[in-house]
Amino acid sequence: MVAPGRFKHLKNSFKMENNRRDFLKAGAVLSGALIAAPLGGFSKDKMADSNPPSGPGLADGQRILGKGEHSLKVSPLGLGCMSMTSNSYNPPRDKGEMGQLIRSAVDLGVTFFDTAEFYGPFTSEEYVGAALKPVRNQVVIASKFGFKFENGKSDGSRDSQPASIRKAIEGMLLRLQTDHIDLAYLHRVDPKVPIEEVAGTVKELIKEGKVLHFGLSEASHENIRKAHAVQPVTALQNEYSLIERVHENGTIDLCEELGIGFVPWCPVTRGFLADRFNEYSQFSEESRFPKVPYMKPEALKNNMPLIDLVCRWATKKEATPVQFSLGWLLAQKPWIVPIPGTTRFHHLKENLGAANLKFTTAELAAFRTELEKINIMGVRSKESARHDV
Ligand SMILES: NC(=O)c1ccc[n+]([C@@H]2O[C@H](COP(=O)([O-])OP(=O)(O)OC[C@H]3O[C@@H](n4cnc5c(N)ncnc54)[C@H](OP(=O)(O)O)[C@@H]3O)[C@@H](O)[C@H]2O)c1
Repeated sequence: MVAPGRFKHLKNSFKMENNRRDFLKAGAVLSGALIAAPLGGFSKDKMADSNPPSGPGLADGQRILGKGEHSLKVSPLGLGCMSMTSNSYNPPRDKGEMGQLIRSAVDLGVTFFDTAEFYGPFTSEEYVGAALKPVRNQVVIASKFGFKFENGKSDGSRDSQPASIRKAIEGMLLRLQTDHIDLAYLHRVDPKVPIEEVAGTVKELIKEGKVLHFGLSEASHENIRKAHAVQPVTALQNEYSLIERVHENGTIDLCEELGIGFVPWCPVTRGFLADRFNEYSQFSEESRFPKVPYMKPEALKNNMPLIDLVCRWATKKEATPVQFSLGWLLAQKPWIVPIPGTTRFHHLKENLGAANLKFTTAELAAFRTELEKINIMGVRSKESARHDV
């Protein structure tokens, strides 16, 4: 096994020069199959070469989540803004610095920003709102509701009562300094409230112009269908990465069938796919790391062959491990839009370089064969893909 950090030299040299034009151009190439298909492009035949080495692309290089009047154009990669304030992987960062990072992302061509009232709580939305206010009409802001807050804190209890959803959206509009939320996701399903009632409330908010599109996160297949029947769902935001592939067991197919875009959260597995950790890594007890099964020392040790495989393929593709991992996600479907989270400019630039990667169908198949041979520890069971989390 090669030691962690083995790609440091590449990080400094490879594709760090990508600028806004390269990023958008790459998005266009990656979306090559999409242009040949109807809006939303949910035709399996057209997607056989979802990431062709060359070909026509959308003029503005964006990807499309959702179908028809419920579709949303976004950059091929978004920016996850959770760890800027939430203590998940690092202490909260300075608002001014994160504002600069968010605006740099805009300058580099990112148009899709992900936050939630739960992050902070509330402070991530404040950071995003302040940073994006001057460019509000150029970007898509996604946020999430569905947790209960008392005295500004949440113990993780869910609350999707219609009145609570309305209150959440009003709070978001204030914090995000806007008059509409482009994409409002239900963060987690509340078992006490029928999903049709949640979808119905969002439908009313859409009629009122306060929300433009509806999303779900980690909902069961049954709830996705029920919600979609009331208010078409534009995007499903679920965990998906080279480590956590549970949603390859039916969820991605369901999105394809219904015309719902897929937004992978945790696409670089909290930094693991950057070759950043091994079994000796020490994590703060206040962070999320120790609570995640695949970040336990025995799982990190067990899962190192995956990093070895990613590094080998990254070398072959002249990419860094993170770029390879994100590029692989982009290559799965033209309507997949990962939202890697970062608090560092050089990581942001590196991550966006993933949009320059191209795979042939043969490469994807060869990589998949090797990937399937690795027994990953600490991930969800196949069956759990069907259920609410
Ligand atoms: N719907 C949901 O339930 C849900 C759950 C979790 C997250 N999310 C959303 O998804 C977004 C992404 O997920 P995530 O932040 O949990 O996980 P992630 O994107 O897989 O990983 C983020 C972590 O990876 C590190 N990282 C990113 N790029 C890197 C690079 N090039 N090299 C080395 N390290 C790198 C970051 O550290 P640095 O800051 O040092 O770059 C950060 O600690 C979040 O921001 C949030 O918006 C949604």
